[in-house]
Amino acid sequence: MDHFNHRGGELFAEDVPVARIAAEVGTPFYCYSDATLRRHYRVLKEALAGAPGSICYAVKANSNLAVLRTLGEMGAGADVVSEGELRRALAAGIPPERVIFEGPGKTRAEMAFALTAGIDQFNIESDAELVALDDVARGWGKVANIAVRINPNVDAHSLDGISTGRKRDKFGILWPAARATYRVAAGLASVKVAGVAMHIGSQITDTLPFERAFRVVAEIVETLRADGHDIRRLDLGGGLGVPYTDERPPSPAEYARAVLRETQNLGCELVFQPGRMLVANAGILVTRVTYEKDAAGVRMVIVDAGMNDLVRPAMYKAKHTIVPVRTDGAQGPVKPTPADVVGPICETSDTFAKDWPLPPTAPGDLLAIRTAGAYGAVMASNYNTRPLVPEVMVRGNEFAVVRPRQTYESLLAGETLPPWLTGGGGVG
Ligand code: LLP
Repeated sequence: MDHFNHRGGELFAEDVPVARIAAEVGTPFYCYSDATLRRHYRVLKEALAGAPGSICYAVKANSNLAVLRTLGEMGAGADVVSEGELRRALAAGIPPERVIFEGPGKTRAEMAFALTAGIDQFNIESDAELVALDDVARGWGKVANIAVRINPNVDAHSLDGISTGRKRDKFGILWPAARATYRVAAGLASVKVAGVAMHIGSQITDTLPFERAFRVVAEIVETLRADGHDIRRLDLGGGLGVPYTDERPPSPAEYARAVLRETQNLGCELVFQPGRMLVANAGILVTRVTYEKDAAGVRMVIVDAGMNDLVRPAMYKAKHTIVPVRTDGAQGPVKPTPADVVGPICETSDTFAKDWPLPPTAPGDLLAIRTAGAYGAVMASNYNTRPLVPEVMVRGNEFAVVRPRQTYESLLAGETLPPWLTGGGGVG
């Protein structure tokens, strides 16, 4: 459920007409709903009430400071994968004791920054990384809490590019190899084993892969305890899917039941790292129709957003629901006909949807690409030298630009010419 609804033939973001925001900030833009964010967090928190633990929001899904601050205010911690994300989480006021650092390639510099910031836990994905962390922590006179991310070899049955828990995926350490990693960790003075971590993928729309993976890691916890390790924490990752078009993902309550069924006898403190389920439906990308044309009998609606603004359809063949902002056409309700909704970028993959039912459009009409709050703005690029689009947060009947449109000046500002192109000559 979200707070983007049509009222009287016009799309509203909470109590603000989307067209009003478009008139003020121009298009394209991302629009987030405060009430939807808060609702999703609350629903998940309530569903997990029986499972003692914490929610560390996966910052990668949407790292806008306003989003982080909103979730942080509600009690969320943060799951970060880079120094940049950690800096964002801290800047948004999320306390370092609520931050977990993930990812297979943390550099020593990133480890040092995180250690001195005082984060709670590092999730380790290789023996080499474990040894490096121990070394960096010793150098700073710190002891780092760790969990080893186990690759449970479970297929999440999600899109290929976003499944992470199969044995050929690059993430985590397979079992039983991870048993030896724990042995090594126990012998290191500057790391302290806190738990076990897993994450099998994203946009998972079935409880079965979760159950399988939870069962595997629950057994692993028992084995590690028998080996003498003090395993108090179980980090179950994120991955719960959302409805983009006609998917029926498990509800937070169903997910929570699976969690409890498989893990409640362990007495572990649980950590969850949801990203998409908190923010996806809390955001839309609003775009304007530039032209319509017919290409060999195919109706093409060309819009002003491109794959550089929202790359998911081009990158993963992901589907997003697209709706007209105004449905009260002067000519009355009109039957939609299939259209390809495409962007202005010089690539065929710059296509948001194929054969998507849309009523006739005219240049200037607004469309909303739904479920764009997760992995939308964060994956945007300047491809085709297009400025990053604004992000807007709505709360009730007010809205605020929480990131302005990038200017052409700032887009070009970072680049310099080498001396040999400016008459200055080069060295050597
Ligand atoms: N924890 C870890 C270790 C992760 O790698 C991820 C996502 C999450 C949590 C959050 O997963 P979520 O709850 O959002 O599914 N760009 C892709 C999704 C990549 C997900 C990467 N890892 C997309 O647009 O679909």
